Amino acid sequence: MNERVHEMTHPLILHKISMIRDEKTTVKDFRELVYEISLLMGYESTRDLDMIEQTVNTPIAETTGKFIAKQVALVPILRAGLGMVDALMSIIPAAKVGHVGLYRDHETLEPKEYYCKLPPDIDKRQVIVLDPMLATGGSSIAAIDFIKQRGAKRIKLMCIIGAPEGVEAVMNAHPDIELFVGTIDEKLNEKGYIVPGLGDAGDRLFGTI
Ligand code: URA
Repeated sequence: MNERVHEMTHPLILHKISMIRDEKTTVKDFRELVYEISLLMGYESTRDLDMIEQTVNTPIAETTGKFIAKQVALVPILRAGLGMVDALMSIIPAAKVGHVGLYRDHETLEPKEYYCKLPPDIDKRQVIVLDPMLATGGSSIAAIDFIKQRGAKRIKLMCIIGAPEGVEAVMNAHPDIELFVGTIDEKLNEKGYIVPGLGDAGDRLFGTI
């Protein structure tokens, strides 16, 4: 396995992923579980953030505190990535949030950007791209292309479920990124759904089934 691909092993993450797979999970529970999984994966994926030391005065003494050196930008891919933002914001409250929206051109089948608004200092930030489902990898590859074009240098991609095809495609297209994936499933089906997957994550998050 590529050393830049980090598949989660934490029992809490795997337990909660198994729960969101269940077709009987309600929209409310699905949304809460995506939040909890994103929170736990956010913890795992930020282990290597650079730190700086600064003096802190406690009520008792002066000490050296450790703080995150590089600011973070979260970039959800619309629309399912939105379900992961609040969890990451709760543990990295100073993070800025950009958004990327893509659609598939019917003729070329290429992903086209219809919306992209990123923090202006994206080049100085650790970027974490959020998309719960890494299927063919087309959207993630295109989103990372756009983000790189705007100057971003350090990029991580966080997905809850990945297909082997998508993982390979993203890592081939962007060998410099780190991928944090909850679990890698068996395959894609002929309609582009991950098998066994969980169905359409956007529909299940927003109740548009
Ligand atoms: N997007 C989803 O929401 N689910 C899949 O299985 C594939 C892409």
